[in-house]
Amino acid sequence: MFLSTVLASLVLLPSLAQPVVADLRITANHHSFGGVNYPLLQFFTPQHRDDTIKEIVKSGARVIRLFIRPDKQHPDPEGEIGGFDKSLLDQFDDTLAAIHHLSKGQMKVIIAPHDAHALRGSNDVPCDAYCKKLDGAFLDFYSNDEMRELYKTRLEVFFKHYPSKNFDGRSWGELSEIILGVDLQNQPFSGIWPIPSGESWLCDIANHLKFTIGLDNANIAVISGGISGPQKVDGIENFPDSAVECAAIDVIGIHGYFSKEVHATAGTPWANMFIPGNTLTARAKGKEGKGKLLLVEEWAYVHSKFGLHYKKEAIFDQGNALNYRGIPWLYSHLTTLDESRTARVNPLRTEYTAWTALKDVLKGAYTSRSNFNWSKYLPPPSSGPTNAQSGEGEWKLKKAGLTNITALPLNPYIPEQSDCTFGCEGHLCDAADGCAPNLICKNSVCQQNAENQLGRSGERCDSKKVCQEHLRCSGGKCQACSVRPSIQPVEPKRERTIPGEVPPEDPRRNRIIPNDPNGSCHTDALPTLFALSQVTPSSNMLPICLSPSSPPRGNPCESASHCDANQYCSWGLCTPCSSSDACLGALCRSNNKCKTGYCNSYGRCDYPGQKKIISGPGASSGKRSRRIPGVPKGHERGPAKVRSEAMKINVPKEKVAETGWPTTATA
Ligand SMILES: *[C@@H]1O[C@H](CO)[C@@H](O)[C@H](O)[C@H]1NC(C)=O
Ligand SMILES: *[C@@H]1O[C@H](CO)[C@@H](O)[C@H](O)[C@H]1NC(C)=O
Ligand SMILES: *[C@@H]1O[C@H](CO)[C@@H](O)[C@H](O)[C@H]1NC(C)=O
Repeated sequence: MFLSTVLASLVLLPSLAQPVVADLRITANHHSFGGVNYPLLQFFTPQHRDDTIKEIVKSGARVIRLFIRPDKQHPDPEGEIGGFDKSLLDQFDDTLAAIHHLSKGQMKVIIAPHDAHALRGSNDVPCDAYCKKLDGAFLDFYSNDEMRELYKTRLEVFFKHYPSKNFDGRSWGELSEIILGVDLQNQPFSGIWPIPSGESWLCDIANHLKFTIGLDNANIAVISGGISGPQKVDGIENFPDSAVECAAIDVIGIHGYFSKEVHATAGTPWANMFIPGNTLTARAKGKEGKGKLLLVEEWAYVHSKFGLHYKKEAIFDQGNALNYRGIPWLYSHLTTLDESRTARVNPLRTEYTAWTALKDVLKGAYTSRSNFNWSKYLPPPSSGPTNAQSGEGEWKLKKAGLTNITALPLNPYIPEQSDCTFGCEGHLCDAADGCAPNLICKNSVCQQNAENQLGRSGERCDSKKVCQEHLRCSGGKCQACSVRPSIQPVEPKRERTIPGEVPPEDPRRNRIIPNDPNGSCHTDALPTLFALSQVTPSSNMLPICLSPSSPPRGNPCESASHCDANQYCSWGLCTPCSSSDACLGALCRSNNKCKTGYCNSYGRCDYPGQKKIISGPGASSGKRSRRIPGVPKGHERGPAKVRSEAMKINVPKEKVAETGWPTTATA
């Protein structure tokens, strides 16, 4: 942490004119964005719907994800297979129009045209017409040719045949001014991974949407929709080869639900998942024009043993991590219902406050930088909806700016009574002294030193064998240090009536805690050290950890795995990669080309020792090559090779409940 970090969330520091590769901060000039899932929005009264949209517009959200599916009170527009209720499509169209007008064209929608949960009646989504026809064999939806054709008809009716009530009778498939993208389905194969059969459905439907229906011509994205349901920290559920190699899929939709843990914040998994240049992000970046965009289409608050006091903290941590990594995201989900321990956030009821934290990270997303260029699907915010309706004191959306902030925003929602409010395991960090002194800031996350990490506190050191950047070498050993303290207010002298009485108040009251965005840190100046030594007996006093030099010297290393993802090991020190170095994510043909020492099977430089992930029978049985009806010539490679013969699988009811994600977490 640089000295100024604590002020950084209030004050924009000098611009990025001379980028220092000190951390993994993104400097590319692309916009990220944030948004929300609102599954039932179209069913509200026009007044309530519009009030909701106005509040969402004010938050800085740029995308709302809508679902076409039944709920307990409302039928699916396809009440019986092949039969569509036009009035329900009109109602949905009214919602598209309202979003377009109220946001002055600044907000777009993503449409989930069907929900895999409706095939099983799971997650509070009633069993729909497809579900009744499948009668429990829900995987036949994907592997049975007749079912595929019926679903393609649904998609054609929605995106080709239905004449928009509010957009001059045009097809939804042409409305790129309001529709950013269309999911293949919400969570295809929900909860089932590896995919046992019918995996070729993914690319087949993607081709149908993109080329047959023609979303491609309109620059509307085809989105994978959260394949197999919840993404695990180390898994590949949402991005199997069948999706990554399918040319017709533009965006990989990722759905993940993570809670705060003892050694991780709710945001830690996101920070780890999207390290720039890692296997996932480098593969997505792909060759020019052939890459995939990555979107966290659903993330949520997941209740933990820490309790509801930590809901805001967990929301901020996740949004902040995704903003830092420049990956766009949609919170799942907004509601008019009570929030309690669920993922739900109610934007219109002021007695709930989770919306405050969510608005904060939405605001951050509005100006966050991304390594991915989304402008084809969502142009950068232009003039911004400087809406007359935005309430006083509300944050006004700025002009097209990209953030110039040079330090990570600290989480202001960590409750004061937390065991740790700064630099704890799993917290985000942007410099060597941004973590507790015994931890290391690696890949933007405070973590325990690996067993072979060099230069730890207590280890031997000399002029050749240096310590980690925040530690001093003293008396031949790397010396322990203490976190730079916050400046405390001068307390009024209290009168004691009984000598020696312990003050009744909690001594932490009125104290500035380390994550206070309004606080400041002590400097190394002599008066400070003098003042501190009066508070702490000098025999116990550890020196304040070193602030990193500018540019940072780098931690000691023997291999790239001791360094950050954007560094390599040179002459015993972690050294920032320049754009011409073959570092993490760079194209490669052999191991000796990579400064990280390893060229992975996707032709990208990677760290050695990555866990090999077996992607299951569906993805790996790609021996036979046969044409899939509807797949244009040249697109049949890769995913179209997977098994697609019909396979009747009856999933027992009990089992279904287990594999499905708790109803509170998914939209
Ligand atoms: C992003 O892509 C668009 C085309 O889709 C292109 O016009 C634009 O220049 C790109 N932006 C940047 C910053 O490269
Ligand atoms: C960042 O700096 C650039 C160049 O100085 C400026 O144009 C832009 O508005 C700044 N962004 C924000 C969000 O202030
Ligand atoms: C920081 O200061 C502002 C303005 O004085 C105040 O509104 C805000 O509540 C303070 N934040 C914290 C965390 O104390």
